[in-house]
Amino acid sequence: MTQKELVHYGVEDGIAVISVDNPPVNALAPGMREGIIAFLEKANGDAGVAAIVLIGEGKNFIAGADIRQFGQARSVSTRTSTAAIDSSAKPVVAAIQGYALGGGLEHVLACHYRVATVGAKLGLPEVTLGVIPGGGGTQRLPRLVGPEKALQLILGGRPISAEDAEKIGVVDALVPKGELRHAAIEFAKSIAPTRPLPRVRDRHVDVDDESLAAIVADVRKAETKNGQLLPAKDRAIACVEASVRRTFDAGIAFEEEAFAALENSGEAKALRYAFFAEREARKVPDVDLSSVPPVKSAAIIGAGTMGGGIAMCFADANIPVKVLEASAEALDRGVQRIRDTYAVKVKRGSMAQDEMDRRLDLIQGVQEYEAISDCDVAIEAVFERLDIKQDVFRKLDAVLKPGALLLTNSSAIDIDAIADATSRPGDVAGAHFFAPANVMKLCEVVNGPRTLPATIARTMEMGRAIGKVCAVAGSCDGFVANRSRAPMMAEMMLMLEEGATPVQIDRVMEQFGYPKGPFAVNDISGLDVSYEGRKRRAAADPGYRKLHVPDRLVEMGRKGQKTGAGWYRYENGDRTPIVDDVVKQVIADVAKDFDIPQREFTDEEILQRVLFASVNEACKILEDGKAYRSSDIDVMWLYGFGFPRHRGGLMFWADTVGASVIYREVSKWHSMYGKRWRPSRLLQKLAESGLSFRDVKPTIEEETILSA
Ligand code: COA
Repeated sequence: MTQKELVHYGVEDGIAVISVDNPPVNALAPGMREGIIAFLEKANGDAGVAAIVLIGEGKNFIAGADIRQFGQARSVSTRTSTAAIDSSAKPVVAAIQGYALGGGLEHVLACHYRVATVGAKLGLPEVTLGVIPGGGGTQRLPRLVGPEKALQLILGGRPISAEDAEKIGVVDALVPKGELRHAAIEFAKSIAPTRPLPRVRDRHVDVDDESLAAIVADVRKAETKNGQLLPAKDRAIACVEASVRRTFDAGIAFEEEAFAALENSGEAKALRYAFFAEREARKVPDVDLSSVPPVKSAAIIGAGTMGGGIAMCFADANIPVKVLEASAEALDRGVQRIRDTYAVKVKRGSMAQDEMDRRLDLIQGVQEYEAISDCDVAIEAVFERLDIKQDVFRKLDAVLKPGALLLTNSSAIDIDAIADATSRPGDVAGAHFFAPANVMKLCEVVNGPRTLPATIARTMEMGRAIGKVCAVAGSCDGFVANRSRAPMMAEMMLMLEEGATPVQIDRVMEQFGYPKGPFAVNDISGLDVSYEGRKRRAAADPGYRKLHVPDRLVEMGRKGQKTGAGWYRYENGDRTPIVDDVVKQVIADVAKDFDIPQREFTDEEILQRVLFASVNEACKILEDGKAYRSSDIDVMWLYGFGFPRHRGGLMFWADTVGASVIYREVSKWHSMYGKRWRPSRLLQKLAESGLSFRDVKPTIEEETILSA
């Protein structure tokens, strides 16, 4: 697109209107900043223009720099176009609707006045992309709202509403939706004669050294997790500090240097990748998502923890939901659990009581299938056994209106076998939520062999409507998310038998970036959850490698925090894990009973052994055609398992290590430990060809797995 098409200019009633036009979100593509600068000059040179309005075409102002351009040379930076606004001799009014993010908000901050529609969103999300605002945002925002609020916005990365922005002084006036252009022009006329122009860069930040030091110390402490402060946050804090201590121009130079140091860092690349991976996951080959009818009512079968969590997702999204449970007692218990979960939020102050009441009103407990017959979607969340699930689907088939979506929250059971119980297998798919369902953002959409593309499209859209990040999996044991993670879980437990300790493995994974180590997490979710599944697998497969340590712990009654002990012990209701000699003894007993030689593990070996096991399985998943692309697996790990986002995802991280290194280690462990380490053919091909996991095409056939 040419500069002319991306930015328009017109004069109305003596006010120049510069409008940016780059659908869908007006991201700052090459040429746009140049266009803004050129039209500012034109307006300043036009005697018939008294003031200027900067506005976005379509629904948004500007959603920031074009993320695809990061890491590449720019002819004109946001620093330059915002400086041009600053130095305009005629006042510039920002007219904000929809999103004003990143570079978009930086243009807003450089304007002399700011008006916004009610409901517009303003924010600086750069840290979520591993960088800092690099167009003066770290220098202008503290001058406008003070360092403390500026740090909240910059480090939080989440946008605030125009209403809140007005309260803190970022927005001068709010206007009703639909009247922005007219209101901004009228506003511009009213301030046109004002001189000197109120430039944010000229404002002084009134904070003494002692207060600033305290603010910075507090925020550094709060942002440091597991002893680590992400580089972008570190630099952002330093820049805000500089905005108080230095002149504007010196601060801008400091910000420029910091931005340049971050732009091509490993974290920034990983975070950019994660942004696009999430959006890519929405695109499903042969599935048209453009005109999908919205889900207006839902039913959840089963009022257990999972069912209740899913019901809350609908209520949170303002969609009425019925929860079906045959027994009155179980239904009461389930509804009470939902009430308790909301009540905790109210107690903590993150939800108002009337909001809790409103959401509870949207959730209706029912005991009969007839009561859900008119729902647009039914999600089954009952006990994980095929016969029980089939019974539910038979009943759903009998009562639900034609065209309703029939979804199962199963985490492993064959979708097709469930669909067999109905007369409409095309309407049946998986919607696999992750515990706690009202918190975890992933919804793994499982495509059975007879599921219709329209069913996938509607399930994806339903997921999006309730705030989930959806990614599609094919139907196989464990689907994609759990199947790819199972080897990691097994290896971390098997390493114990050889001499590693839970605390060492937890430390390694926390240093890698997980908020909590996997053993500490397992103590929260419960050691017993996977116990029955392992027993079933062992019974079905004589070659199955048993996990003796967790089996023995469960048999001793150590099921995690709920029993006061698991991989760690817990005292007096406190959730702090305490290393326990009992676990040490169990591990030593297993090693002795099976005559397993003991050795020391390096941190690197621990990390590689758990993650390479999963990378190898993920390659087999791609080989089997159960995922469309490796980035979908990353999306599942990021949103289902809390994989550190600044590592991009399992497969992105694997690319930073290299397929050849992984293949070499996997082959070595294959010869040491046997069949569970059989290298995937895809991994071998990638290692030999030097291609990356991202080169794996979304094709299903083995022959066409690699691009030419
Ligand atoms: N640069 C490049 N592309 C962008 C973009 C940006 N800053 N913001 C959005 N897009 C693209 C998306 O990739 C998507 O493309 P696709 O349809 O080809 O997949 C399209 O614009 C629509 O974005 P999407 O996120 O699907 O729309 P949404 O309505 O759900 O959300 C936003 C809109 C603006 C909230 C969201 O896109 C967003 O957060 N963008 C990034 C904002 C940002 O970080 N800006 C700072 C950069 S410094």
